[in-house]
Order: sequence, then C-alpha cells, then structure tokens
Amino acid sequence: MAQADNTNGNGLVVIVSNRGPVTFSRSDGGEREYSRGAGGLVTALNSVSRRSKDSVWIASAQSEEDARVAVEPAPYEVEDLRVAMVEHDPEAYDLMYNTLANPLLWFVQHGLYNLPYEPVLGDGTLRAWEDGYVPVNRNFAEAVSRILEGEDGEPIILLHDYQLYMAPRFVRERLGAGAFISFFIHIPWPEPDYWRVLPDYARRGILESLLESNVVAFHTHRYASNFLDTATEVLGAEVDLEKGIVYRDGREVWVRAYPISIDPKEFEELAVSEAVLEQEQWVKNLPGKLLLRVDRMDLSKNIVRGFQAYGRMLERHPEMKGGVTFLAQLQPSRGDIEEYARYAEAIRKAVVEVNRLHGSGDWTPIELSMEDNFPRSVAAYKNYEALLVNAVRDGMNLVAKEAAVINERDGVLVLSENAGAHEELGEHALTVNPFDIDGQADAIHEALTMPDDEKEHRASALRETVMSNTIEDWVEAQMRDIAAYRGRDG
Ligand code: G6P
Repeated sequence: MAQADNTNGNGLVVIVSNRGPVTFSRSDGGEREYSRGAGGLVTALNSVSRRSKDSVWIASAQSEEDARVAVEPAPYEVEDLRVAMVEHDPEAYDLMYNTLANPLLWFVQHGLYNLPYEPVLGDGTLRAWEDGYVPVNRNFAEAVSRILEGEDGEPIILLHDYQLYMAPRFVRERLGAGAFISFFIHIPWPEPDYWRVLPDYARRGILESLLESNVVAFHTHRYASNFLDTATEVLGAEVDLEKGIVYRDGREVWVRAYPISIDPKEFEELAVSEAVLEQEQWVKNLPGKLLLRVDRMDLSKNIVRGFQAYGRMLERHPEMKGGVTFLAQLQPSRGDIEEYARYAEAIRKAVVEVNRLHGSGDWTPIELSMEDNFPRSVAAYKNYEALLVNAVRDGMNLVAKEAAVINERDGVLVLSENAGAHEELGEHALTVNPFDIDGQADAIHEALTMPDDEKEHRASALRETVMSNTIEDWVEAQMRDIAAYRGRDG
C-alpha cells in the first residue's frame, strides 16, 4: 500500500470540510468529551486522515465546546485524528448554511426546484452570498493558513464539498502556487443549463474559484464531464475533454472521477457489535419480508415517491399484504430550512395514507422511524430482502454499498438510475426511474418475489463490486494522481 507521505512532498495534509469528524461537549464534571460525526462524507474522510501520517482536519465549530477548541493554538488530538475547529460569525454561518448552500446550491445540483415557481432570487441572495457564503469561506482559508504557519514543505490541501466552493480562491491567495489544492465535490454536478439558475456572480465566482485548484474531483464520470462542459460554457475555458484537463492561466486543472466507497471491515465489525445485535431482535420481529430504506431526511432522497410506489405495489398485489414490512429509517436533517420542514410533513402524511389504505389490525405496512439510530440501520442492513434507493439525484449513495457488504439474505437492490452508485452497481441492481412510481412499484414487487438463485447471483456480484473498490482504493487513487501531477515536470 503506497503511503500518503510518499506523495505529499513532506508537507502537511490539511483536510477541510464543513461538517467535522467529531463534535465536542463538556461532561457535568467539566471534562471535554466528544462524539463521532455522522454521515458518509465524514466516515470516508476519516480514512484519508488515518492514512496520512501528518494531517489535520479543519471543520466548522457546531457546539460551544467546539468554539473553545477553535481558539486553542494547536489542533486537538482525538484518537488518531488531529482536529482544528473554525468558528464563524453566527449570522454569516446561518446565511451560508440555511440560504446559500442549502437550499440554493444543494437544490440546483440535485435538480430539486420546481422551476416555473422556484427559486425566487434577488437582493436576499446577493446578501447571503456576500455576507454569508464568501466570509465563511474566507474564514476557512484563514484557518488553513494558520495551521500551516511555520510548516516546511509543500502542503496538500484537501477541500470538500459545496459549502466550500470559494475556499480554493482564498487559499490560493494566501498560500500561492506551491500549495497543492484538491477539491472534492460529493454531490452531483448537473448539466450547464442548471447552473444558469444561479446568479452570474455566484456561477462565475464558483467556477473561477474551483479552477484555482490543481484537481477537481467527483464520484462519477458523468459529473466530471458535466463540470468540463460547464467550465466551457460559463467561462469559455479551454478544455481537453478526453484528458479531463482545464487549462487556466498557464496551469492545468485535472478533472477526475474517484468513486467513493466504504471500509468493509468497519461494517463487518459493526454488524456483530452488541448495539447492533440488540436492535436486530426488534428488526427480526417485524412481520413478513423486510423492504428497507435508510436515508437522511432530504428531498433529494425521494422518500415520498418511494412510499407512493410501495402503496401502488400493494394495490396491484394485494396478496403481498401482511407478507412485507417497509422499514424507513430516516435521520432528521436541516430542520431549520422551510423546504425540509415541509418535506418531513409530506413524509408523515404519505406514511399515514399508505398505512390507512392498506394496513389491518395486526399489520402496519410502513414502520417509520425519524430518529438517528445507526445500530438499528445496521441491523436492518443485515436483514432486508429488498433495499430501496430511489434518489432524485445522489452524489454516490453509500447506503447501497454499506448494506450490500453485510446483508445476510441475498437482498435485492432497487436503485435509481440517478444515484452516483448506479455507475458501479447498476448492473446488479433493479434500475428505476425515480420519477416513475409504477416502475418502482413493479421493481419492488420483482425484488420481493425474485427466485433465490437470481437473488444469490446478484447479491454476490454487488458484494464483490464493493469489495473491489474500497475506501482505501479511493484514497490511494487520489494520492497517486497527486504524485503524478507533481511529478509531471520531472
Ligand atoms: C451530504 C453532503 C455533506 C453533508 C452531509 C450532511 O452528504 O455531501 O457535505 O455534510 O450531506 O448534511 P449536513 O448539512 O448535516 O452537514
């Protein structure tokens, strides 16, 4: 296994993301405590951080104790991580997070707007950009240069995701040409026309900033190719589509696809942990075959249409009633944003409707859980007969990969053609159009009634595909390219 420190020119590796690997708090006795951050991005970056001998991870302070860590002179050591927190002005952060990044950028990139009516942009958008998004990004860049003060060597700065699009520009301004900047975008990059929804200052600002990076990376070739098209259309940039290079002020920007993955060992260990075994009792008591979905409560995940499709399946196949339970493990998310609050309501209503129409005294068609219960999700991963991943659009979707590795029933994956995971897993899944609920109803039925030998065949192919590209491979591919980029001039 090539070591990250072979490639970093003996400089520090600085990872930056809005959401951090841990959140700190204080015990009643005044001791500093921490809990691990949730979410696929954080899990994946943990692996990058562990692989780099000399790395620091910078993230936004989310709690009071995080803010105390933010003013300490050196990064805080947690297990094998060195973590630095950056504190933002609360109003600026609110504008960045709740107005500019989510919903605007998130909605544009996932194609979630009902365009004849939304979004309604104007001075408020400009204010969120100028007083929120830009200063928060500048703040991240300042934190990066603070961490690097007095450091020798050429650092590698790994910036992550749509909350940080302006950071490359500010990091480059501070650190100059010697710093290696890699920007990883974990969400879809749509076709150029979608970018025209954004005001020109944001559209151009984002692209110009991203092109200050040395590498811009995505989970799929489709997003990488959309990015090249957008750079050409919006900036008139000079692009080599075949090589995946944008030429910018005499520099090369490599545009690459590295499909993110999971650490299978971590999930194999989790699967036999006490917390999971305890939850498994509950999961196994659900009546009939298990149809599962595990998602953050996000509009992009297409949760409501999933319930409608399941209702349609029960309508068409009444013999399935009582023989299946749909468990929806939904993790609350971004609750301060109106669209998300409304979506949570729509989810509740859709569940009530299906349960009212199809349920009976001793059978509830949908079990809805709207709480963060990771052990229960893992227990359900082991036991589903069918897993529904029907996202409107999704950068990758790690649930599909996590579940495939530890499922014990040769469960069938019903997968949206618009999930990034489809590029790798589509061949072994039942592919659905996320907008077509009849098609999804049929796919759910097919998954739940599939002959054993076909299930077995598909499930082992899914497992093998995931095992052949793990999180280690993801990190290594990026490090190899960084070394190649740096070494190309000899
Ligand atoms: C997605 C994004 C991440 C984000 C995560 C959780 O995976 O790509 O950047 O951190 O969702 O969302 P949140 O708003 O809670 O950080």
